[in-house]
Amino acid sequence: MSNYHIKHLEEYFQVYRKSVRNPEAFWEEIAEEHFIWRKKWDKVLSWDFSKPEIKWFEGAKLNITENCLDRHIPTRGTKTAIIFEPNDPKEEVQHITYRQLHERVCRMANVLIENGIKKGDRVCIYLPMIPELAVSVLACARIGAIHSVVFAGFSANALSTRINDSDCKMVITSDGSYRGAKTIDLKGIVDKALESCPGVATVLVAKRINSKINMLEGRDKWLQPLLDAAYADYVADVMDAEDPLFILYTSGSTGKPKGMVHTTAGYMVYTAYTFKNAFQYREEDVYWCTADIGWITGHSYIIYGPLANGATTVMFEGVPSYPDFGRFWEVVEKHKINQFYTAPTAIRALAKENLDFVEKYDLSSLKVLGSVGEPINEEAWHWYNNNVGRKKSPIIDTWWQTETGGIMITPIPFVTPTTPTYATLPFIGIQPALMDENGQEIKGNQVEGRLCIKFPWPSIARTIWGDHDRYRDTYFSAYENMYFTGDGALRDAVGYYRITGRVDDVIIVSGHNLGTAPIEDSINEHPAVAESAIVGFPHDIKGNALYGYVILKETGEGRDRDNLRKEINLQITEQIGPIAKLDKIQFVPGLPKTRSGKIMRRILRKIASKDTSNLGDTSTLLNPEVVKEIIDNAL
Ligand code: PRX
Repeated sequence: MSNYHIKHLEEYFQVYRKSVRNPEAFWEEIAEEHFIWRKKWDKVLSWDFSKPEIKWFEGAKLNITENCLDRHIPTRGTKTAIIFEPNDPKEEVQHITYRQLHERVCRMANVLIENGIKKGDRVCIYLPMIPELAVSVLACARIGAIHSVVFAGFSANALSTRINDSDCKMVITSDGSYRGAKTIDLKGIVDKALESCPGVATVLVAKRINSKINMLEGRDKWLQPLLDAAYADYVADVMDAEDPLFILYTSGSTGKPKGMVHTTAGYMVYTAYTFKNAFQYREEDVYWCTADIGWITGHSYIIYGPLANGATTVMFEGVPSYPDFGRFWEVVEKHKINQFYTAPTAIRALAKENLDFVEKYDLSSLKVLGSVGEPINEEAWHWYNNNVGRKKSPIIDTWWQTETGGIMITPIPFVTPTTPTYATLPFIGIQPALMDENGQEIKGNQVEGRLCIKFPWPSIARTIWGDHDRYRDTYFSAYENMYFTGDGALRDAVGYYRITGRVDDVIIVSGHNLGTAPIEDSINEHPAVAESAIVGFPHDIKGNALYGYVILKETGEGRDRDNLRKEINLQITEQIGPIAKLDKIQFVPGLPKTRSGKIMRRILRKIASKDTSNLGDTSTLLNPEVVKEIIDNAL
């Protein structure tokens, strides 16, 4: 028997050693015993980080949805696969069984085919957290179409950029969406986006809020009548192990979002195995991840990982504050949630509210608490541990990325002793390394450096859609033969890892990755703006918030500053989305620059954080005088 389910620390160390001494044999055993294949692989792994080229289970044939759906039908046909918890707690909950989910996915697969979608085509999914979202994702996978889910909080502009980057032929959306007490006109956003997307032939529209929307004849179709008319079975298409499963965009240091490409077999094996172990999931458990499927967390740990294990997974449409700040805990009590996975920003926001909101609910079903997306600070960790876990549910602080596909560094609950703010030990098969600025690996403990991974794991992204050079330059060129994460980390005396934050120009706001460049580009398009620079500064709830330094053109100098601030934020909201809005905007006469013209963000970060006691060496600046002026007028 393979070590599919790890139960104690000694076993972790033993399995870990096995997984790094002979990764091929280790992953082969897991793949053989726990998944169904139309044909087994010819080779477990081939890789070359210098190209980079990574292939897992080459030659194998499979369909991931047969592993997530069909194979469960004989034993788990009547088991709930998805619990849909709507935005409004008064609306009825849906329990979708494995058999029903299978049928819904098959119908959707037929609708896709009838609307001209073929294997390899890209389909953009821009939907709220309703069952149609999971069904659409799985239906694409069933026919071999590549899904590109775009978070339904992104603006029309951000949506059209993503649609065009990967030449999507179809968009699946809804009339609108609920978000707490508000509704959002999703179809209106899609219509605007599609003004600049000539490649989209069809828009399928799910009905969610019953709003009056515009339907463009020949292009837009209501989804439900098509599903009702579709045949309820569809034999899954056979995919190669390395066929792309999906594209998911993430921010980078330069303007254009990066379409990370994940492939089929390795992604399936790794997300399923990490789900089982990181959450210690058992057959009767009910698992809830509060993320949106628009992010990697939702792809891997709401859909694919849980369903590959035949789990019951909750899809939550709402927000933690609606109808009040007890909503999360009301849902935990209602569905007797056993594993709960959320983001530090949500914890921090809820910790500010009255404790009654947590205390009045029965949370005794909880066994494991998870955290993801950004560092969890000590205060939030203790609040989560004391008030939600009531000191009996271990917190797993899971570090990973869109690019890694699955959890990379995490405690295994009831196995790895936890320490607040530490992601602790690498997951099975993961070989981290800390590097210094000269490209040397820093060995030993009690050290700090840049976090890299030395050896491929099955769910590593294989490329950036349409730009393999950028993939190599971003992740494989900083250190030879290493995947560079962009994060800094320290390793303590016992070998535990603590992630210290990004070391590049990506800022994590409320758990969302934001690149400085696209936001600066957007600000610079404002007619009154000459130049700008964005940095992060610590924020109680969001973890980081954005501080913008803006140089006005002469024509902008006489304008009212507060109006300008509003216009700049409106511009960002329209071009990227509300998550990228700036908390503070300071108008400055210049930006501190090196002689080669590079903005010294280190100095701007310190000023934004009100930490100006030691600005380091400013003598190499082209314009040192501007620093004092910025400090004097800092917000
Ligand atoms: O900086 C790290 C931070 O989030 C980045 C990845 O963001 P994204 O691709 O959007 O994926 C988020 C969900 C997996 C990382 O480079 N990050 C993620 N998890 C943690 C974290 N930082 C500290 N601790 C974590 N547990």
